[in-house]
Amino acid sequence: MNRAIKWLSFIVISLLVSTAAMAADEANLQPQQWQPIKIEAIAGDIPELRGMPTDPQLLLPESVPEDANEVILGYLVATDTIALLVYASLFAVISLFIIFIVINGISRLDDGYSGKLIKRWSGLSISVHWLGAIACIFLILTGLVLSGGRLYLEPSMNQSGWASLIGLSSGLHELMAFPFILGYVLMILMWAPKQIPASYDLKWFAVLGGYLNTGKKHHPDAGFANAGEKLWFWVFALFGGLMVISGLTMMFPETFVVTKNTANTMLLVHIVSTIIITAFSVVHIFMATVMSEGGMSNMTSGYCDENWAKQHHNLWFKELK
Ligand code: HEM
Repeated sequence: MNRAIKWLSFIVISLLVSTAAMAADEANLQPQQWQPIKIEAIAGDIPELRGMPTDPQLLLPESVPEDANEVILGYLVATDTIALLVYASLFAVISLFIIFIVINGISRLDDGYSGKLIKRWSGLSISVHWLGAIACIFLILTGLVLSGGRLYLEPSMNQSGWASLIGLSSGLHELMAFPFILGYVLMILMWAPKQIPASYDLKWFAVLGGYLNTGKKHHPDAGFANAGEKLWFWVFALFGGLMVISGLTMMFPETFVVTKNTANTMLLVHIVSTIIITAFSVVHIFMATVMSEGGMSNMTSGYCDENWAKQHHNLWFKELK
């Protein structure tokens, strides 16, 4: 009996020691984010993009592994430029839009509110929109920490504050991916039929939807969705899709059998898609909340004012009548 206990203790202690040794190994080498792609990060090239390496020797690749695609690596090592572009896609676009609104003003309803309401979005559409939109906003904010936090935030933070922030951002980023994917898939499936381009969309673009304040009122033809909304929808469909595919591949490298080259390519695709989706999201949010008087109620109550429908979606309004 005594012998059995001794053997059991020996096995348990050995297991604990070897696990601790492995953990120590990982603790030395691991970036603090993108844990699921740690193998790729250890194995080579650009660990700093995937987190903050605890070992400064890992900051830059000592040698580019033979099988790594150097063109992709060439883009990925420009980490400061990537961080700048990601931050600019949010803050520069916000600043430009504020300047635009200050100079141009917003689009008001020519005849004010009629008080008559028209159903525009179902309860299901509204829930799906906010599921995807709220998750997307979290992904953008945590993505800022992951992509440029080391450059812009860490220098003005203490070590434990930074460690908590990057840990929280990394966890939230992975968690929010799932509601985003669900929202994304449902929005694309449910709304694609309303977003088919039409010939009159070109005229809408030619006068920028009538949003430019030239002193003369332009209200170009638009169906349920106007040309600007269609552009946003298809950009979201394409780059949101690339974001989902690249994100899932990086999150589950074993499932998708990710090689280092694939991981690097996916990282680059993820970054490019992020920049595009963030810039478009800012424009979309400004258009919905500030630029178009009467537009916001569409996604809160599901109803719009009849005058809003006449002014911004005349063909849809005619169809309804
Ligand atoms: C505070 C943030 C947001 C607000 C206030 C907002 C508001 C709105 C509104 C009012 C509409 C309906 C427009 C109409 O009826 O013509 C709409 C549509 C839509 N939203 Fe958002 N949205 C936000 C964030 C997002 C985000 C982050 C995404 C992407 C994940 C998104 C994706 C869409 C799409 C694809 C449509 C349909 C196309 C369109 O009509 O523009 N929204 N949103």
